[in-house]
Amino acid sequence: MATPLLDVRDLHTHFIARNLDNEIRTARALNGVSFSLDGGKILGLVGETGAGKSLTALSVMGLLRPPARVVAGQVLFEGRDLIAMPPEEVNRLRGARMAMVVQSPKSSLDPLSRIGEQLVRVQRAHDPALGQAEATARAVAMLEAVGIPDPQRRARAWPHELSGGMAQRVLIALALVNQPRLLIADEPTTGLDVTVQAQILDLFRELVLANGIGAIIITHDLGVVAHYCDDVAVMFAGTIIEHGPVAAVFGQPAHPYTRALIASTPERLVIGRTRTTGAPPPNLYALPTGCLYRDRCPHAAPDCAEPPPGRAMGAGHIAHCHFAGRLAEHAA
Ligand SMILES: Nc1ncnc2c1ncn2[C@@H]1O[C@H](COP(=O)(O)OP(=O)(O)OP(=O)(O)O)[C@@H](O)[C@H]1O
Ligand code: SF4
Ligand SMILES: [Mg+2]
Repeated sequence: MATPLLDVRDLHTHFIARNLDNEIRTARALNGVSFSLDGGKILGLVGETGAGKSLTALSVMGLLRPPARVVAGQVLFEGRDLIAMPPEEVNRLRGARMAMVVQSPKSSLDPLSRIGEQLVRVQRAHDPALGQAEATARAVAMLEAVGIPDPQRRARAWPHELSGGMAQRVLIALALVNQPRLLIADEPTTGLDVTVQAQILDLFRELVLANGIGAIIITHDLGVVAHYCDDVAVMFAGTIIEHGPVAAVFGQPAHPYTRALIASTPERLVIGRTRTTGAPPPNLYALPTGCLYRDRCPHAAPDCAEPPPGRAMGAGHIAHCHFAGRLAEHAA
């Protein structure tokens, strides 16, 4: 089998810090995240707030800040482990071969530079030999590709002159200008109105597919996943509890949490900012052994004191629950 573009294996990320009593405290925020992604595919990463979606993206991209750090696992990008790589080398890859669109577009643009200059700067950061004229031409072409009208003139605009939708397009242009193989977008359209959201996601999908990029969209909107993604991974307490092709996972959800999530979002399929499925999530400082969903699960049984292995539900569809595929039987 060909090497996947991105292969994340059993990733554990902890926040390790001293408290006021000078004791070391560890928040186990990612607890064995595994998934893979091929070029030309879009993976949706979903789960309620605090599940570890952004942290997964930052861990993959080498963008964690202390006290967060990866304590175990591998992030194989084009077959090479980013976790074992010197940070300078990961920095070189990021922006050149992998890129991230972070949340809140306006605050992630440099307010003191015109957008064309910002596009030139990211290109030259990764290719210092690139001439000004060529970088500028590419900047304008990229603005045009992301659907910015009159790109020549807009390249001279300041970030504060852009609408939210335009700023988001510029961020996508910044992420794509160096032609990355991997693109992660963390809630790329949250806060934009529905029409602009659809335009941006259509464009995103088009660019990803046209360039064979592997992309991850982090979102609270299951409708976005259903519409734009090939695969979906559902996170809970820093683990992926179910993943697979969107039609399979949403059509026949096998994990009780996925079922609760889908049942809790019947109207617009948007996962609320507050907890949608009842009790609070586990305390990351004192995680239980066994299934992390146990305290909230209506199907919990003595077996659940052991960590549930991944069970194959169908082609590429895996659910981490002891009773996946036989919940009805188990309930009876
Ligand atoms: N400095 C910190 N120390 C301890 N735990 C932290 C710290 N910062 C974040 N966390 C925890 O890390 C977990 C993962 O957070 P993350 O930002 O990845 O969630 P998310 O799934 O992206 O949520 P949202 O949907 O709200 O963006 C959260 O439970 C959070 O409480
Ligand atoms: S393993 Fe047990 S506790 Fe966990 S989701 Fe399945 S039934 Fe619920
Ligand atoms: Mg987040």
